[in-house]
Amino acid sequence: MSQVYRSDLKESDVTPKEVYLNRRQIMTAAGALAAGSIAGPALAKLATVASPYSTDAKPNTLQEITNYNNFYEFGLSKTDPADNAHTLTTDPWSVEIGGLVDKPGTYGLEDIVKGVTLENRIYRFRCVEAWSMVIPWDGFPLKTLLDRVGVQPSAKFVAFQTVLRPSEMPGQRTGILPWPYVEGLRMDEAMHPLTILATGIYGEPMPKQDGAPIRLVVPWKYGFKSIKSIVKITAVAEEPPTTWSQMAPNEYGFYANVNPQVDHPRWSQKSERRIGGGLFAARQPTLMFNGYEKEVAGLYKGMDLRKFF
Ligand code: MTE
Repeated sequence: MSQVYRSDLKESDVTPKEVYLNRRQIMTAAGALAAGSIAGPALAKLATVASPYSTDAKPNTLQEITNYNNFYEFGLSKTDPADNAHTLTTDPWSVEIGGLVDKPGTYGLEDIVKGVTLENRIYRFRCVEAWSMVIPWDGFPLKTLLDRVGVQPSAKFVAFQTVLRPSEMPGQRTGILPWPYVEGLRMDEAMHPLTILATGIYGEPMPKQDGAPIRLVVPWKYGFKSIKSIVKITAVAEEPPTTWSQMAPNEYGFYANVNPQVDHPRWSQKSERRIGGGLFAARQPTLMFNGYEKEVAGLYKGMDLRKFF
């Protein structure tokens, strides 16, 4: 079906991207194509625009992005998610938004993306395990959603939760992590323009192994902050618990900002291996805040980043 919503427009104008289509919408789009009215309203809504926040680094291939994953709900090895994630039902999907907000509720994904401008954000992505990729996400600022539900002044953090569905997620039938996977951000981090909810990659709906149908992406932090397959977003007053800092608090902190000066207790964070670079490619130096220092350093002014790692 993917060619249904691709077009030949240049990426610099409007990149045709697909976000989230339920089956009926896909059928409608296919019908519109068959009838020859390609630029119908159903398709126009799916376009994404290029973003000034994109890096000009060369993106990894979709093959690489979808076959080297961390998604423990589907197993521990890097290829387990590609093998197993097909069992996850992602349509219909809804997200419960609550806590200290004016309009709490359970919102269907189609409502969440309705009227939202989807952007193509090519971001560096750095895992705490010292590998990295460049990923062309399709998404929109988390702030857009938070503003729509109205965050109350007493809310200082945002907590996120992945779907809990052991019948479809074999990892959740084991005790490798406490389930569901949970994450959190400080409110100013959540509201930062670089922080997005992503619904696709390369103009395709989010592959299941990458966190379909909607996931967080926080490009200046280690990848484990970028929680997948989100079903719950809660505005809270206190710093919420996060999965990896609960598992190993001396190794994984709440902040998890990419920082070449602060090593993981068991390995160096000074350099990283770019996936797809080939067996003999040189490691590359890790950049402070993963290269987003200009944009985000101000958030941490005066903080000891060794203490708040
Ligand atoms: N979210 C959930 N629910 N479960 C996970 O195991 N792994 C995290 C993060 N989000 C994870 C998750 C880690 S460690 C990384 S590096 C990224 O997802 C990997 O994202 P990718 O597979 O799309 O590259």
